[in-house]
Amino acid sequence: MPATIVIGAQWGDEGKGKITDLLAERADVVCRFQGGNNAGHTIVRDGEEFKFHLIPSGILYEAKTCVIGNGVVIDPHILFGEIDALRARGIGADNLRVSANAHLIMPYHLLLDGAAERQLGKFKIGTTGRGIGPCYIDKVARVGVRVQDLLDEKILRRKVRVALDEKNQLLQLYDIGTLDPDQVTDEVLAYRERFEPHICDASLLVNKALDDGREVLFEGAQGTLLDIDFGTYPFVTSSNPIAGGACVGAGVGPTRIDNVVGVAKAYTTRVGEGPFPTELFDDAGAALCEVGQEFGTTTGRQRRCGWLDLVALRYAVRVSGITHLAITKLDVLTGLPVLKVCTRYKAGRKMHDEFPLLQTDFHHAKPVLEELPGWTDDLRHCEEWADLPETARDYVQFIADFTKTRVKFIAVGPGREETIVLPRSIGRGGAV
Ligand code: IMP
Repeated sequence: MPATIVIGAQWGDEGKGKITDLLAERADVVCRFQGGNNAGHTIVRDGEEFKFHLIPSGILYEAKTCVIGNGVVIDPHILFGEIDALRARGIGADNLRVSANAHLIMPYHLLLDGAAERQLGKFKIGTTGRGIGPCYIDKVARVGVRVQDLLDEKILRRKVRVALDEKNQLLQLYDIGTLDPDQVTDEVLAYRERFEPHICDASLLVNKALDDGREVLFEGAQGTLLDIDFGTYPFVTSSNPIAGGACVGAGVGPTRIDNVVGVAKAYTTRVGEGPFPTELFDDAGAALCEVGQEFGTTTGRQRRCGWLDLVALRYAVRVSGITHLAITKLDVLTGLPVLKVCTRYKAGRKMHDEFPLLQTDFHHAKPVLEELPGWTDDLRHCEEWADLPETARDYVQFIADFTKTRVKFIAVGPGREETIVLPRSIGRGGAV
């Protein structure tokens, strides 16, 4: 702190919600900067479970300002659904601010997401079907609808009409029929009054907070390998989940960022299609899935599970300048006699120590695995580094040494308190 970015260092679902929740305790402002309701963060607080898709997890703290930055895409129906659900549990959202420049997911984006996937057939991406890609497409094509357009009905009607001139042709091509521009406009306009008290200049808000010495936490969604530029393209999402995305998606300069926390599971999971070199198809994979409860928060899909990929993790450290690692779900590995970690890839006759540049190499990559001894003790009661079994400590130390990055957090259970916060983080060869 004062400016910390939390990002996913794998394919999303690393347990960022929990680490964000922990860091949010110290923050004055919590800001999301990319993605939309394709994300799903689960937070367990005092035994109560909260699932967020769009609202920053800091909302559970009364005194914090929560911000949805310009880089986020917002489905109004989902946003206000989440606000209503929170209200029903006695939690208000008066402290939520939404960038006037954030783009809105429109009804046609949802239809086009599904249609594009059907069109791709066996080459489909396996999207969450939430309209994320088509919304970002419109943003870049400069025909998107932004939150601020709700404040000018004339402009909004014109924008929706212009967008639907093209989309309706596409929808017809996909045999979906057409949408009526006025009806679509009325549908989103219905949210204007509810949006109004939340709309703000998010960049100004965040920068002022930093000027005043307040602590700002930037909350990433998805993960490094789903990044549109640095992920396993084309099996990626349509935004930049890497740390640089926080600058663009919140309107803050890179010189203002102090720390980047990369969250990584102690193993690897992925949902959707695309290459995954350390994927397991045996009993060990099934055990990870079952013990780790690896089912998507957003779509309920079963996640693919595999060994920890350290080549990919070191790549994540590089492209985001990760200063601290948070290793989550270490407890899930308990009981596996041998743990494997990927330290290189072999593609054909080529060996790769670094994340391959070429998509084809990564698609053909076979993991070179190193074996480490497992442990049988229950980790969930461990409160400090010293409480962990020696082999668990060796496993974490191996990650720190391989990635040359300090480990600051180790999660040993789903609850907030089941996290070891290392006073002096380990890594760069130096243990606690
Ligand atoms: P989209 O973001 O819905 O367009 O989906 C693109 C790819 O990103 C698909 O493989 C999704 O499964 C994946 N994806 C999107 N959001 C998440 C997430 O929060 N966790 C894990 N995977 C995600």
